[in-house]
Amino acid sequence: MKNIIIIGSGALGAEVAWLIEEINNNKPEWNLLGFLDDYAYEKIETILGYPILGKLDQVVNYLDSHFTIAYGSSSFRKKVVESLNQFELKWANLYSPTVYIHKSNKIGKGVIIGRYTDLTVGCEIDDFVMLNIHVVLGHKVKIGKYSIVSPNVTINGEGIIGEACQIGANSFIKNVSVGDNSTVGASSCVTKDVKSNVVVVGVPAKVLKEGRPNKSISRDE
Ligand SMILES: CC(C)(COP(=O)(O)OP(=O)(O)OC[C@H]1O[C@@H](n2cnc3c(N)ncnc32)[C@H](O)[C@@H]1OP(=O)(O)O)[C@@H](O)C(=O)NCCC(=O)NCCS
Repeated sequence: MKNIIIIGSGALGAEVAWLIEEINNNKPEWNLLGFLDDYAYEKIETILGYPILGKLDQVVNYLDSHFTIAYGSSSFRKKVVESLNQFELKWANLYSPTVYIHKSNKIGKGVIIGRYTDLTVGCEIDDFVMLNIHVVLGHKVKIGKYSIVSPNVTINGEGIIGEACQIGANSFIKNVSVGDNSTVGASSCVTKDVKSNVVVVGVPAKVLKEGRPNKSISRDE
């Protein structure tokens, strides 16, 4: 069993702990040591029975372990991972046993893929991407570094998601591209290319605003 630590102790941190349990139930692989987080409530000592080990500067005490990043905001994941680059951490890839990944898919490091997510063929998933549960990716979909795809999203074949994007739950994305740092609101239908640094919502999706949303994506930031 390899030691692993989850960076981020919010709701997504707990869900990733559950994913690790699910992986271990199928075939014992990970020894979950606990969580590191600068933002943990001081009164919380454990999550799902696993301890909060300390703040992020404690990574130096666990350099033999593997790590996974569990912040639900793509821009915040990027910020935290970049702040840890100096340590050359071993980033784990965590896939639910219910995911089938064809060998033609290229997947980077630190990627999390949740239950019943379906990657078809020829997809390119960059480092630190999170594909939540029940996501469907058509052929040759590309997803850029740090992006987060929420539950029940479908992305048509050859769709392209940029870096640090946030794709809201239940949305559908045609074979179009979504620019870096953009957000697709929940239950939206994206039929045309989306430029970088915008929030789009609705059916069909239209620009709601330029820049990051005020709320509703994640409580991490
Ligand atoms: C798109 C989103 C990021 C916008 O957040 P925000 O910038 O804080 O926007 P607000 O909540 O202030 O809403 C602004 C307006 O957009 C509308 N709006 C917000 N989200 C919408 C959506 N998904 N679809 C359609 N309209 C939406 C609001 O009704 C509001 O309209 P109004 O001005 O007429 O009252 C957010 O609503 C969203 O959809 N988040 C995704 C949540 C999600 O899927 N999380 C994953 C959990 S696993």
